Amino acid sequence: MDDERTPQDSEVSDRLTELLEIDRPIPPEPGLPEPVRSLEPAALAQAPAAAVSGAVHQNRVHDSAEKHVTGRADYTDDIAQPEGTLHAYLGVSKIARARLKGLDLDAVRRAPGVVDVLTAADVPGINDVSPTGRNDDPVFPTDEIEFHGQPLFAVVAETRDAARRAALLAVVDCEPLPFALDPVSARKADYPYVAPPLKLERGEVDPALSAAPRRLAGSIRIGGQDHMYLEGQIAFAIPGEDDEMVVHCSTQHPSEAQHMVAQVLGVPSNAVTVNVRRMGGGFGGKESQMNLFCAVAAIAARRTGRPVKIRPDRDQDMTATGKRHDFVVDYTVGFDESGRIQAVEADFAARCGFSSDLSGPVTDRALFHADNAYFYPHVRLRSHPMKTNTVSNTAFRGFGGPQGVVFAERMIEEIAYATGQDPLDVRKANFYGGAGRDLTPYHQSVEDNILDRLVGELEEKADYRRRRAQIVAANAGSTIVKRGIALTPVKFGISFTATWYNQAGALIHVYNDGSIHLNHGGTEMGQGLNTKVAQVVADAFQVDFERIKITKTTTEKVPNTSATAASSGSDLNGMAALDAVEQIKARLVTFATETYGVAAEDVAFLPNAVRIGAETMSFDAFVKEAYKARIQLSAAGFYKTPKIHWDRDKGMGRPFYYYSYGAACSEVSIDTLTGEYRVERTDILHDVGRSLNPALDKGQVEGAFVQGMGWLTTEELWWDDKGALRTHAPSTYKIPLASDRPRVFNVDLADWSENRELTIKRSKAVGEPPFMLGISVFEALSMAVASVADYRKCPRLDAPATPERVLMAVSRLKTKA
Ligand code: MTE
Ligand code: MOS
Repeated sequence: MDDERTPQDSEVSDRLTELLEIDRPIPPEPGLPEPVRSLEPAALAQAPAAAVSGAVHQNRVHDSAEKHVTGRADYTDDIAQPEGTLHAYLGVSKIARARLKGLDLDAVRRAPGVVDVLTAADVPGINDVSPTGRNDDPVFPTDEIEFHGQPLFAVVAETRDAARRAALLAVVDCEPLPFALDPVSARKADYPYVAPPLKLERGEVDPALSAAPRRLAGSIRIGGQDHMYLEGQIAFAIPGEDDEMVVHCSTQHPSEAQHMVAQVLGVPSNAVTVNVRRMGGGFGGKESQMNLFCAVAAIAARRTGRPVKIRPDRDQDMTATGKRHDFVVDYTVGFDESGRIQAVEADFAARCGFSSDLSGPVTDRALFHADNAYFYPHVRLRSHPMKTNTVSNTAFRGFGGPQGVVFAERMIEEIAYATGQDPLDVRKANFYGGAGRDLTPYHQSVEDNILDRLVGELEEKADYRRRRAQIVAANAGSTIVKRGIALTPVKFGISFTATWYNQAGALIHVYNDGSIHLNHGGTEMGQGLNTKVAQVVADAFQVDFERIKITKTTTEKVPNTSATAASSGSDLNGMAALDAVEQIKARLVTFATETYGVAAEDVAFLPNAVRIGAETMSFDAFVKEAYKARIQLSAAGFYKTPKIHWDRDKGMGRPFYYYSYGAACSEVSIDTLTGEYRVERTDILHDVGRSLNPALDKGQVEGAFVQGMGWLTTEELWWDDKGALRTHAPSTYKIPLASDRPRVFNVDLADWSENRELTIKRSKAVGEPPFMLGISVFEALSMAVASVADYRKCPRLDAPATPERVLMAVSRLKTKA
């Protein structure tokens, strides 16, 4: 629909639409009113005659899509630099662990262009940027180096190049100490936990395990992952008068960055403003990791009185900032001959790195998802958040959840091979559902389970049974190329498990010309949050999307926000924005009733117009009148998620407001001589409730699937025995390319699904859950490998299943056979 955009933009977006195969906006059926299906009482108050452009539940292109692909979208590095801007660069450790005796920085200071050098001693406030207040994340260390690549100091110079060159000239005086790089050696060396471990327990695990007819014990290694956002870490600090500091940066958590900058500067939070227009990808890697860069830029700006920008290159970004946690899971499972699980015990040890960062909640979430879609009658799960001498690991899409889910799916596969069944049948036999089978290990009931229908539909759509039989037959007749197929489900709990994070604010101004300024506490990282929230506002006011100006996230407008994370961005900020709109509308309705003497029911917001009694006037004219009558046309909205509570000590509560579901079926082929493979076909059916924007949600599902597949296949982090990360750039770290996508890729949303809870327009969160659909590729690879020994044994396959690992698994099975 061309009326969705201005004429000159529509040309670009037509091409873009073709290129990206984004669905066009769905025109409303002629003459039929767009049904208002959302059940929020306020939204039911009016029934529009026709949809406005960009109303909720419509496909709509990302508000910045054209700017993204034409280079007109402004990122932090695009902000015009004031005269006198300086550039900072980090000097890093070349040793995994050592007592720090001294830093000889004379050569650094003397290098051309260098203006200042910062060390721990130069931090005016508190030398800590720990996101959880554990005080273990120094900006720069004082007496101990704790990982290879750790920032030790920063150089501030006239140019970035000068700063980079100078940073290499430091002489570090230190005494090497013994170190541990991975969770297993850390446990052996009695390393401490970086955060309190969690135990989730229900039932009588030990007796149930002993009584189970069959038992299996195993160990799985699940690798980490680099975020590989296109735009790296960056912060740009501009000092103001008195104690003021403005920091432009690329963080998912502006409020935290603000508080950290205030903390290191030793000033109150009200002196610091943090701004984020957009990120070129975050994926969790910018939830806490930006704190350090903001702190360094701000300290340097305070000391020099000049603006300071810091932007590490890709190698430094990959070695000095945290990643997804890798895990070693040891487990025992008891089950019966039909493959039904009776008891599970599992220990989750994670490589957390040198500090806690978000490792506590990440390892907690691994346990929260260790059931995935399955009921465990008796269960005991324990986390071991191990300190290691590596970079401090952090949030990454799914936040530990995917590691828990991989464990559950691997265990199911083991049971399937042990009982000689199709793994899908074992999955179904263990789904939540049926009498007394809805309690999770954390004692929350699964009340909104749609897995039977969802998986059933996907099974049909993907023609799973027939294709599996064909593949088994084809494998029997093929010596070199073997194929595999797997259908895996995901159930993902939505809400921050730190209950207080589940709040959001928004600020909306209606100007007296009828144009609308929208601000909320969420951040845009490509996921389309701003588009969705603007759709909520357009829908609630019944005005065209184009009337709404989406503005940068700033701590000046909405305070004390949570990270845009846990997939909750649109759930939280959409509701907060709706709250603000409803406040303004309520004032407008009161104004109309008082001025025109009509009842409140006789005031209706129609597309770009307002009907008052028998009269209709344009939205603009009405707003102008209200303004003249001195009606307040601005409101701050607020929302907090209801119903949730969590008692961590007891391991009981309702940490999640609801669950999102999905399933994927993937087929792969492997070359048993080289281990190389490709994904032949993937079918996905994913649940986003009643989608706010199906086009954007589908994009999220596709992107998350590919990212999840990359995690479990080609993306491998490898540290050498000195503790240096050798996969420190795209040259050695392989993310999926366009050519790695499934040859056939069918992605559908479960359009019949609707959130049972009163979420924004009955939608569900989409950001993280589909990441775990990539597990279908991993399990399909496992089946292809198993075929070389006639499926008698579940292959030992650790993640990522790189071609090398696939080849090793094949040879292991062949030798044993
Ligand atoms: N999509 C894009 N394009 N870029 C991103 O950085 N981050 C993911 C997901 N989708 C991300 C993304 C992660 S880790 C989360 S938690 C959610 O988006 C956050 O946004 P939301 O809560 O608005 O979905
Ligand atoms: Mo997403 S890992 O919660 O930023």
